[in-house]
Amino acid sequence: MLTILWSILSLTLTTVTGTVIRDFQVGQPPVVPKDAKQCRVEVFQHDFANSFDTGSAITQLNPPTDCGDIGSWAAITLNLTVTSNGTQFDRLGIFTFHNVEIWRTSTFEPTIGDGIIWTYVKDATQYMPLFSEAGLFIFELDNLIETGLDGVYSTVLTATYYESSRTNPAAKKADLIIPISTLSNTTGNDASVPPDFSLNITIPNNTVAIYAELFASGNGLEEDWFFNVPDKFFSDISSNITSAHDGFREVRLLVDGMVAGVAFPYITVFSGGFDPSCWRPIGSYGMADLPTYAVDLTPFLPILTDNSPHNFTLDVVSAEANHSINANWFVSGNLQVILDSSSKPTTGNITVYSVNDFADTSITGSATEFGTFNATVTAKREIHIEADILSGSGHLTHTVWTQDLQFSNVQTYRNNGLFATLQQTSTGKSSSTHNGVPVLSDVFSFPFSTNFDYFDETLTNWTTSIDHSYDRVLLPNPLRIASTINNHQTTNGFFQVGSEKSGNFGNGTNSNTFTYSDVEGNTYTRKINVANTNFNDTIIVFLDEISGSLASTS
Ligand SMILES: *[C@@H]1O[C@H](CO)[C@@H](O)[C@H](O)[C@H]1NC(C)=O
Ligand SMILES: *[C@@H]1O[C@H](CO)[C@@H](O)[C@H](O)[C@H]1NC(C)=O
Ligand SMILES: *[C@@H]1O[C@H](CO)[C@@H](O)[C@H](O)[C@H]1NC(C)=O
Ligand SMILES: *[C@@H]1O[C@H](CO)[C@@H](O)[C@H](O)[C@H]1NC(C)=O
Ligand SMILES: *[C@@H]1O[C@H](CO)[C@@H](O)[C@H](O)[C@H]1NC(C)=O
Ligand SMILES: *[C@@H]1O[C@H](CO)[C@@H](O)[C@H](O)[C@H]1NC(C)=O
Ligand SMILES: *[C@@H]1O[C@H](CO)[C@@H](O)[C@H](O)[C@H]1NC(C)=O
Ligand SMILES: *[C@@H]1O[C@H](CO)[C@@H](O)[C@H](O)[C@H]1NC(C)=O
Ligand SMILES: *[C@@H]1O[C@H](CO)[C@@H](O)[C@H](O)[C@H]1NC(C)=O
Ligand SMILES: *[C@@H]1O[C@H](CO)[C@@H](O)[C@H](O)[C@H]1NC(C)=O
Ligand SMILES: *[C@@H]1O[C@H](CO)[C@@H](O)[C@H](O)[C@H]1NC(C)=O
Ligand SMILES: *[C@@H]1O[C@H](CO)[C@@H](O)[C@H](O)[C@H]1NC(C)=O
Repeated sequence: MLTILWSILSLTLTTVTGTVIRDFQVGQPPVVPKDAKQCRVEVFQHDFANSFDTGSAITQLNPPTDCGDIGSWAAITLNLTVTSNGTQFDRLGIFTFHNVEIWRTSTFEPTIGDGIIWTYVKDATQYMPLFSEAGLFIFELDNLIETGLDGVYSTVLTATYYESSRTNPAAKKADLIIPISTLSNTTGNDASVPPDFSLNITIPNNTVAIYAELFASGNGLEEDWFFNVPDKFFSDISSNITSAHDGFREVRLLVDGMVAGVAFPYITVFSGGFDPSCWRPIGSYGMADLPTYAVDLTPFLPILTDNSPHNFTLDVVSAEANHSINANWFVSGNLQVILDSSSKPTTGNITVYSVNDFADTSITGSATEFGTFNATVTAKREIHIEADILSGSGHLTHTVWTQDLQFSNVQTYRNNGLFATLQQTSTGKSSSTHNGVPVLSDVFSFPFSTNFDYFDETLTNWTTSIDHSYDRVLLPNPLRIASTINNHQTTNGFFQVGSEKSGNFGNGTNSNTFTYSDVEGNTYTRKINVANTNFNDTIIVFLDEISGSLASTS
């Protein structure tokens, strides 16, 4: 076991050698005050061995009383540190607090011998209303121990609260956070779709603004949803290679059966995805903190503030005529609610509702012989909703919520289906204004292209290359600040399945360029190029440059 690391940080050259592999996903450190008093609380320590369905870490979390007034903190962060050794698949992790999903993550795959360690620090400031009250904190990480799979994930989670002061003001927060979740007290609160997931929710009648955050990720036959082929070409390929129901997915949020907002999801590649050798030690962007999607539900307040339960629905649909997908996607959401100073109910009218039930989609292509075809799926979506909202205190707000999204997924299969290429682009702009002031804005571009080449019908060795980006200018709601992230990652990999998983062989390269900036002037840049040989053997870091105002906190 050999680790060679040439690290350039602030123009200082360092060489580090070690035996435990330190994995990471590139991303900016949370923006936290440098000089504030901190209160650190251990939330749990938990070993995830055979933890499917019943093995969640469940704990009661109380707010600290020695970092200023409860709920007045400048920031809150969560530090998840995990070690593992042995052989194991990547697993999905769901953090739920007060029945609200607050963070979705996934695991790196361990190595035999001294194993791996990683830390991800999550900015949880936006969930301050939840952290201000004692409640049930659940971390679900479904792991399996069986023949050939012995990797246990040993986890430690700490929460850090930053005391506010004149120089470090308390963070802005919602008055209330309401879950769109299964409300389970024994496991993660995400729902599995299809079919759709619906929940009755009653909104306080003096609500004046309401912003949804959506979580969604594909699993099982939907983990590689972008490689699923259109139904009309499914008979042209072996079902061992891929699944049906095309490569387009739209996550929809409906209120009383009306589409309120949608997401064209980003492709999060888990650390066993395509080729595990591509993702050591650098994970695919988003794997440790899956991106979420923002919808302004304020235009629906004229319907929602009547003291009655309303039907909130989450589902995921494809471009097929019947919109079918395979099992399964895990979905949930939360509502950040802002109340009026008056207890009188909010009233108003929806003045524009121009929304189709489904995106406009097309599926084209042609096949020449079994395992040789081209398929193109396109989609576009326009949403336009306006409403006049009159608060109990007499403030009139004109809200305009729009989404304009485009999608294209071009697949080619050759050589009996053994060679595949994919070019996917997902771009768009979501925007909401309240009396002309932008309160939510999401301008994104998620291009993804790959070649995937199996050597032969045994499907036991393959090469792959991936070139993908996450480019997003995001203001999820007015309680947070607008930030710009540009991440570009290219990988190449080779993998050969052995007689047992522990005998697998692989190698790969990963080049990652990441930049973050926000409207408060914080910046962070990292450029890192690595090669990983023999799957569990050697990692070479050719370049690792970190700079920006947040660099010293990482
Ligand atoms: C995260 O927690 C681990 C221990 O659980 C600690 O070793 C590490 O320094 C922490 N990292 C950060 C950035 O706080
Ligand atoms: C790896 O796991 C095995 C089996 O659980 C254990 O015996 C061994 O001590 C572990 N090695 C390290 C370096 O943690
Ligand atoms: C979860 O616990 C809360 C508070 O004790 C309770 O109101 C709720 O009914 C429980 N949910 C389920 C699904 O049991
Ligand atoms: C919502 O409440 C209505 C009655 O108000 C009931 O018929 C319906 O089954 C409930 N739906 C869900 C998803 O709980
Ligand atoms: C508004 O909601 C509050 C709290 O549920 C309730 O007490 C009040 O009666 C409601 N007002 C009206 C006019 O419905
Ligand atoms: C699919 O895999 C199964 C089991 O691995 C094998 O028996 C079958 O021949 C394969 N089918 C095709 C079309 O390759
Ligand atoms: C809630 O809305 C969804 C989507 O329109 C629908 O499938 C479901 O039947 C509705 N549930 C109830 C109880 O009305
Ligand atoms: C909503 O429409 C009704 C009927 O036209 C009108 O009386 C009321 O003033 C409108 N409310 C708002 C907030 O525009
Ligand atoms: C697929 O597209 C390529 C490039 O556009 C073209 O050369 C090829 O003939 C097409 N193949 C089929 C089977 O349609
Ligand atoms: C593919 O993998 C199998 C089993 O690991 C091996 O027997 C075969 O030689 C490999 N083929 C190539 C071309 O490497
Ligand atoms: C993985 O590492 C172990 C020892 O650390 C070694 O015995 C084994 O051969 C390695 N496997 C591969 C495929 O490199
Ligand atoms: C993997 O190793 C083989 C043999 O040394 C080499 O030809 C290939 O370029 C390597 N691939 C990657 C992606 O590192």
